[in-house]
Amino acid sequence: MAGAKEWKTQDDDSILDEFCNICATVTIGLESLCAIECEQKLACSVTPGRGRIYFTIPRKRLREIQHLRSVENLFVVVEDIADFKLSVQENVEMILQRLYHLPEQLNLKPAFDIWKEYKDLCTGGKTKALQHIEISASESSTGENITNEVTLPRFRVTCTRNHSNSDLKHAFTSMQAAAKFGGGINDTYGWTVDLEDYDIDILLNIVDNHVVVGISLTEKSLFRRNIVNFGPTTLKSTLAYCMALAAEICEGDVICDPLCGGGSIPIECAKEWPCSFNIAGDNFHMAPKRTQDNVDFVNKQCYSMTTKQIKVDNLQWDATCLPLKTDAIDVFISDLPFGKKNGSMKKNWQLYPDLLKEMARVCRTKTGRAVLLTKDKKAMARAYGQSVKYWRKKYTYWINIGGLQAAIYLLQRTSIPIH
Ligand SMILES: C[S@@+](CC[C@H](N)C(=O)[O-])C[C@H]1O[C@@H](n2cnc3c(N)ncnc32)[C@H](O)[C@@H]1O
Repeated sequence: MAGAKEWKTQDDDSILDEFCNICATVTIGLESLCAIECEQKLACSVTPGRGRIYFTIPRKRLREIQHLRSVENLFVVVEDIADFKLSVQENVEMILQRLYHLPEQLNLKPAFDIWKEYKDLCTGGKTKALQHIEISASESSTGENITNEVTLPRFRVTCTRNHSNSDLKHAFTSMQAAAKFGGGINDTYGWTVDLEDYDIDILLNIVDNHVVVGISLTEKSLFRRNIVNFGPTTLKSTLAYCMALAAEICEGDVICDPLCGGGSIPIECAKEWPCSFNIAGDNFHMAPKRTQDNVDFVNKQCYSMTTKQIKVDNLQWDATCLPLKTDAIDVFISDLPFGKKNGSMKKNWQLYPDLLKEMARVCRTKTGRAVLLTKDKKAMARAYGQSVKYWRKKYTYWINIGGLQAAIYLLQRTSIPIH
């Protein structure tokens, strides 16, 4: 796996000093899609990993990472260890001990300096409180001995974990890993743990046996943006964005989420593709209010930032009998009931074929498309088989959401009309 380690082998230190290695956590299976966003927005080359992407960006352009929407956490890489041996076959106590000793081998200083620089950039140089924070009492940014003015950072460790299959499952919890690793930082560097009022969030990102340690640049994970009224199956905004990206939205496209829940998909589309028109609905009586609350929340933010308000037309409806004309929609983007928290596998057996047929009626022939997320692959295969005349499968992203194996299907409407 190509990652941060590769960059470290470059020997021109002066060039390296002008750049920084950034890693972003992403949904497993969507790395290539997230890389496209990153390459387009930051004009840099991206190396996809598993559940992560890596890129190098000039330090002076670091602020531009704030434009990314498909990624969850962004951090400056401290260390990238491809084979830390963390799977269920290993002894848990030994693993936790190795995590405790890991900080002794780390050089936090370069990443720490970039983190400080980034905070400064984001606040326009107003983070005076940061000026005296140093990695150790003997350090000062000017190299002078100002030991008495130096404050060591208060920190916390956030551990994010994922595994590809049951053989690579971890037998320890994220809390255990964070506590051990944090204990090691505390003992090695003398920094104080403060879970609430911390200066630095150290990220311990574990995918299978691969550990990346970094200093977080995002204050909180980006997946909860835009949503205040959550439902039981609210989709991550980052995933909603990825689905919209996969739909290749064009100027003037009419986009519809016929099973919108709290509206995470239409909100993301309306906000990030202001050139589109968004219609959404759900058959659950609380869904329209939930969506409206979330739209209002986004518009309040737009108001305070003097950016354009978003608009989502939002109704209560049955997605298998839409109050829309034939050929009215360019793109359907939807997160279907998985049949676990919402609906049932038995209901999906009927719902999915009816839905694909109704979407085929309303979707523009030839140019229309649908991007559909589900975990119920059997019901989807059956529904697709029944409407293969109307839809052509273009691509499937196999993804992992919180340990569940799901799929995002990209369907293209054929030219055959429905009578
Ligand atoms: C997985 S959830 C969607 C969650 C949504 N993306 C969000 O972020 O809140 C599926 C939704 O389908 C809705 N649903 C199920 N059957 C429906 C039908 N026949 N017509 C319209 N909505 C339906 C459920 O009420 C539920 O809100």
